[in-house]
Amino acid sequence: MRRPVIVGNWKMFKLISEAVQLVLDLKPQVVNSYHAEIVVAPPFTALKTVNDRLEGSNIKTAGQNLCDQLGQGAFTGEISGAMLKDLGCSYVIVGHSERRQYYQETDEVVNKKTRAALNAGLTPIVCVGERLAERENDQMEIVVGRQVRDGLSGLTPEELSLILIAYEPVLAIGTGRTATPEIAAKMHKFIRGLIAENWGNQLSENIRILYGGSVKPDNISVLMAESDIDGALVGGASLDATNFAQIVNYK
Ligand code: PGA
Repeated sequence: MRRPVIVGNWKMFKLISEAVQLVLDLKPQVVNSYHAEIVVAPPFTALKTVNDRLEGSNIKTAGQNLCDQLGQGAFTGEISGAMLKDLGCSYVIVGHSERRQYYQETDEVVNKKTRAALNAGLTPIVCVGERLAERENDQMEIVVGRQVRDGLSGLTPEELSLILIAYEPVLAIGTGRTATPEIAAKMHKFIRGLIAENWGNQLSENIRILYGGSVKPDNISVLMAESDIDGALVGGASLDATNFAQIVNYK
């Protein structure tokens, strides 16, 4: 059985005081929710304070990004995997479509960041997903296929078994237009097939593939009813404690 994972990506929202309020509101609403791993990804600036407030709880944290370099060095403005680990993070989001679109992250960078995350003992949440024009031109399998193969290229089976994949069709991010559960499920099945081809059936059965893009309290259950959807990467709706708690408690 693949344990579901629900991740809240706060993006560039929440000052420290607001971040604290959000987790204080969230904690009691998910205190008995052990059916899923619960993860929040605050901005870097709030991670330490949020982690202190979450100590001993069932909510873990993720960085939203990390440096592609291993170890430490002269990389002004960058945050290493070890630094995130030091702050108390267990996960890190890698290759979000906003990073790909606005900060020119290529599959090669995604691959390096995935390795850097694993090297630091973090669970990478590797994001893939086609853009609207690519879907309209029926290119989604080509694009996502390349993102999966190149982004995860060279990972050993052991390494692959540690990662999470998030499929996020760009047309659904922040737009209120979720992919239909059928469309999402088809792509999840396709991704699972690619993992089987490249890393074998056992790993493809075990790997968890999250869906992202306008996930809300009112659509989470139908998405989670699909057998190939193992969780959600939630943006906008994770900024409100009650909405996010409802998504976590979709059952
Ligand atoms: P959204 O964002 O839920 O606001 O669509 C999802 C994401 O960007 O991960």
